[in-house]
Amino acid sequence: MSKPVKAIPAERLPELLRRMPKAELHIHIEGSLEPELIFALAARNGVQIPYASVEELRKAYAFTNLQSFLDIYYAGASVLLKEQDFYDMAWAYLERAAADNVVHAELFFDPQTHTARGVSMETVIDGLHRACTQARLELGVDASLILCFLRHLSEEEAFETLEQALPFRGKFIGVGLDSSELGHPPEKFARVFARCRELGLHLVAHAGEEGPPAYIWTALDLLKVERIDHGVQSTKDPALMQRLAKERVPLTVCPLSNLKLCVFPQLADHNLRELLDAGLCATVNSDDPAYFGGYMNDNFLQTFAATGMTAQHAYQLAKNSFEASFIDAKQKDAYYELLDATFAAFA
Ligand code: ADE
Ligand code: ZN
Repeated sequence: MSKPVKAIPAERLPELLRRMPKAELHIHIEGSLEPELIFALAARNGVQIPYASVEELRKAYAFTNLQSFLDIYYAGASVLLKEQDFYDMAWAYLERAAADNVVHAELFFDPQTHTARGVSMETVIDGLHRACTQARLELGVDASLILCFLRHLSEEEAFETLEQALPFRGKFIGVGLDSSELGHPPEKFARVFARCRELGLHLVAHAGEEGPPAYIWTALDLLKVERIDHGVQSTKDPALMQRLAKERVPLTVCPLSNLKLCVFPQLADHNLRELLDAGLCATVNSDDPAYFGGYMNDNFLQTFAATGMTAQHAYQLAKNSFEASFIDAKQKDAYYELLDATFAAFA
């Protein structure tokens, strides 16, 4: 339990949520491609997209489940060809994150979406990494990269992707597992993750977004991940809840994503508050902000308004985001101090 936070009138809570420093740990950088940038890159690269206008593309963002979103998300990423395109996409996100007082960000990227179209691993990683380096210098945002394997593809393709990425090992800090969850359980990638572990990479995986609690157990026990991305299905399994709380396994929860992909019928039904109150290290994240209607602060503001969470929850969520991040203990302490100073100054 975090230290008590003084009560704040409900009308001032949005300002506190906006102002508090926070880390974002679950953002697919390809999911930050706004329709305007998709059209600009399509024109720049001479790529055809099957939508007549930005408005028409936005109208297509009516999803019924994860797969209905992924089909459009992979189509949107087809405009990315050059190093500058990857840089422009990441820079736009990092500027937006800085405006939301995100001081630390760990960005997912999906190299297989690009290498399958003939774009080199070097092009992808160099463009994204250049934006991260510049963000540290110019925006005060500490940003790093996590390479995700697409779980609808084979183990062999994941191993090939790892081999292609190893020359750039110094430019990413870990690996993750994303894409279509149902029918692609974590164990499919146990050997790839074992190899990544030997290489000293951090390990995370999407589990329990749409899939059953069993996928969370196997992500922990077979993949040996350090964080679970989403994990909202864990409230269906009391033994799992106990374990997650006891071991402080972080869950990178994405409320607006869960709403848009119909995981919960309404934001008021979201279980974030239940996860926090049960002592889990839950965090708030945007997942694919260009597609789900909001960046970090939109996620905080809308979720707090819908669920009636308090300043105490806000403090806990921000603290959890630093606790769950892949930074050293000294850097974590510096962020906790910054957080405490922000709350203390918020009179
Ligand atoms: N790739 C991008 N967003 C995703 C999500 N919410 N779940 C799984 N894979 C993804
Ligand atoms: Zn995700």
